[in-house]
Amino acid sequence: MKAIVIIFATLFVIVGAGLTGCYKDVVLPVAGADPNAPPKQYSFSKDIAPLLNTSCAKSGCHVAGAQAPDMETAVSYNSLVNGGFVNTDFPSQSILYQQLTGNMEEHMPNAADRQKVYDWIRTGALNN
Ligand code: HEM
Repeated sequence: MKAIVIIFATLFVIVGAGLTGCYKDVVLPVAGADPNAPPKQYSFSKDIAPLLNTSCAKSGCHVAGAQAPDMETAVSYNSLVNGGFVNTDFPSQSILYQQLTGNMEEHMPNAADRQKVYDWIRTGALNN
């Protein structure tokens, strides 16, 4: 009887170890945010400028007299493009994108919003 209990206990441990061993982490892509997906078209004035104004042009941050680039709606396009923060030849090397997916990501926590900014750069960073 004791031998049977030991056999079952051993089997139980082996099966248990086997099951946990084959557990695999499945990382699902963040909804609406696939940097490699074909870029969607966005309007700077309707989609991007309001997003940057709300998320970045907070008092003491990316506003006149504080941290460049100034991302207040009226001036954000010129600050970003003429300030060298956008690289349409190599969009992922854009300072704007690198900061948005780096030090500044906390200020735009929604991945789909960050993707909009990236797609705008990838479609030529138009003043549309
Ligand atoms: C999603 C919104 C934001 C974007 C896209 C953004 C973008 C940037 C960029 C492109 C730079 C680099 C500037 C350079 O290389 O010269 C930068 C730096 C900086 N930003 Fe932001 N930013 C955002 C939100 C904020 C907010 C809300 C604050 C204030 C709490 C802030 C404070 C700073 C500071 C202090 C720096 C300079 C130091 C550093 O590089 O860490 N930013 N940001």
